[in-house]
Amino acid sequence: MHAVAIVAAAGSGSRLGADRPKALVPLAGRPLVCWAVDGLLDGGVAEVVVTVPAAEREAFAAVLPAAVRIVDGGATRTASVRAGLAALSDPAHPAADVVLVHDAARPLTPPDVVARVLAAIAAGAPAVVPVLPVVDTTVLVDDDGAVVDAVPRAPLRRVQTPQGFARDVLERAYAALPEGAELTDDAAVVRASGVRVDTVAGDERSAKVTVPHDLTLAGLAVTVDGTVTR
Ligand code: CTP
Ligand code: MG
Repeated sequence: MHAVAIVAAAGSGSRLGADRPKALVPLAGRPLVCWAVDGLLDGGVAEVVVTVPAAEREAFAAVLPAAVRIVDGGATRTASVRAGLAALSDPAHPAADVVLVHDAARPLTPPDVVARVLAAIAAGAPAVVPVLPVVDTTVLVDDDGAVVDAVPRAPLRRVQTPQGFARDVLERAYAALPEGAELTDDAAVVRASGVRVDTVAGDERSAKVTVPHDLTLAGLAVTVDGTVTR
């Protein structure tokens, strides 16, 4: 098994509102993307491809390990992952048979989660996502914001990354996705192609950094909690 990770890092981070692309924002002194890449390598991924904003290639190259490949991303996350997938066909690199797709915006994903995703694919799953239960009461509202009904929570899950795929499954799914179609994650692209997606346990530490408060929490996880060791 040769597993390559595509890290989607080409977003601007408009909701975070920092002075640089979100993936380059420091967490305890190191850019988010560096934390994310380390977690993937520690979890058993052999090679990492990072998709970046085209104008920021040099800034990413300056902070990432030399072995990490840097690829221009696109205007949307879907386009960025497509660009990362295309780079996997470069004959200069060993052919991957497993692909993980991860958000740079999830810097503290524990290596254990990466290992669980890889193990599920190694055991034969074509696609797998890390998930967590929904802990809040969850309701449906009408157009006026009035609660219509409570949603049974037991079968609901929150989906995280890294998401793992047999490479041929992910390539076929993206090839079948109409140009311009935007789905929120890669498992949705694969499901749209009719392939079963399995789940493994996610981790609260994989939380996505979206707004400034999320960065505060991630900083606390590193400096106070002590459960993040890398
Ligand atoms: N991403 C990407 N290419 C894009 C847009 C997003 O690679 N054109 C990546 C982001 O860099 C991020 C991940 O997809 O790691 C999840 O996206 P999100 O959290 O929405 O990040 P941004 O799009 O950068 O943030 P915002 O939506 O607040 O602008
Ligand atoms: Mg976004």
